[in-house]
Amino acid sequence: MTVNVFFAAKAERWPHYEMPLKDAIKSAGIDADVSTDFAPDQVDYIVYAPNSDVQDFAPFTRAKAVLNLWAGVEGIVGNKTLTLPLARMVDSGLTQGMIEWVCGHVMRHHLGMDSHIKGDAGVWAPSAPPLSWDRNVVVFGLGELGTACAQALAQFGFNVSGWSRSAKSVQGVDCLHGPDGLNDALARAEIAVLLLPDTPATTNTLNAKTLAQMPAGAVIINPGRGPLIDDDALLAALDTGHISHATLDTFRVEPLPKDHPYWAHPSVTVTPHIAAETRPKYSSLTIAENIRRGEAGEPFLHLVDPSLGY
Ligand code: NDP
Ligand code: OXD
Repeated sequence: MTVNVFFAAKAERWPHYEMPLKDAIKSAGIDADVSTDFAPDQVDYIVYAPNSDVQDFAPFTRAKAVLNLWAGVEGIVGNKTLTLPLARMVDSGLTQGMIEWVCGHVMRHHLGMDSHIKGDAGVWAPSAPPLSWDRNVVVFGLGELGTACAQALAQFGFNVSGWSRSAKSVQGVDCLHGPDGLNDALARAEIAVLLLPDTPATTNTLNAKTLAQMPAGAVIINPGRGPLIDDDALLAALDTGHISHATLDTFRVEPLPKDHPYWAHPSVTVTPHIAAETRPKYSSLTIAENIRRGEAGEPFLHLVDPSLGY
C-alpha cells in the first residue's frame, strides 16, 4: 500500500526537499506519495518543522509519527494536540556542520586570532597562546552534537570535559553530570560550549551565580539555544571582563532584534543561527529510515521523551 508522507515545513523548503526526500524514501524500499497537500486523515507520516503552519495535530487521525527536521524540539514538544511519537533530527550533515562551527570558534578564541586579525598596523607584538593540552574546554550537553564536538576538540589535544543530565562515558572526555557535576564543569570552563536543549530544566543554566563560578576571562560559545543564558547576567559579566567574549548563534528572540545590546557589544560575536544546518541530502536519509522502521513495525530512531522535553 502507498504510504502518504506529508511535508509540513515552510513552503520555500519544499523545492530543496522534494527530490532528496522522494529518492531516500524510495531507496528505503517504501512506496510513498510525498507531498505538501493531503487531507489530514490520509497522512501516514508528518515531516515537520516547528515553524510550519501546522499546529493542530488532532486531525491527523491515522498518522504514525511526526518526524522533526530540526534537532531542537522546544517548538513542538509542548503541543497539547500532539499524541503521536515525535522523532527529532539526528543526521551526519548536521553533526559535521556543528563540529566544524564549534571547533572553528573554539580555535579562534584559543589562539587569540582576533588580536592579530584586528591588530594595529605597524605594531609587531608576538604572543604565544597556550597549547591545546593546557586549555580546558567544557561542552555542556553530551548528546549527539555535544559528544561529537567534545571528541573532535579532544582530537585537537584540548583538555575536554563534558556535562550532561545522566552519567556518560566518552573516550577522551572527562564526563561530569547532574547538579553536583555542574560546579566542577563551571570551574574548569575556560571555554564553554553550550549544546544543551531548551527545556524548563536548562533555562538560564548560565546565570549570575554560575557565570561567577567560571574562570576569569572565560569564553562562552552558544550554538545550543538562547534561553540557556540569562542575557542580563551575561552582559554584566562581559562588562566587568569576567567573561572575556561570547560567541552566540542562538537567542531568545530570533532574528535577534536590531536594538539588542548584543549587536553592539565589543565582546560579543553574533552569528544568525547558522552553526549547523539541516541539509536535505542527509536529513532525508534519517526521515526515510524512520518511515521504513514505522512500516516494518520497528522502533523509531531518536524519539523525544515529552516528560524531559528533549
Ligand atoms: P541531544 O538530545 O542528543 O543531547 C542533549 C544533551 O543535553 C544530552 O547530553 C542531555 O543529557 C543534556 N541535557 C539535557 N537536559 C539537561 C539537564 N537538565 N542538565 C544537564 N544536561 C542536560 O541533543 P543534540 O546534541 O542533538 O542537540 C543539542 C541542541 O543543539 C539541540 O537541542 C538544539 O537546541 C541545538 N542545535 C542548534 C543548532 C544550530 O544551528 N545552532 C543546530 C542543531 C541543534 P543526557 O545525555 O543525560 O540525556
Ligand atoms: C535545529 C536547529 O534544532 O537548526 O536543528 O537549531
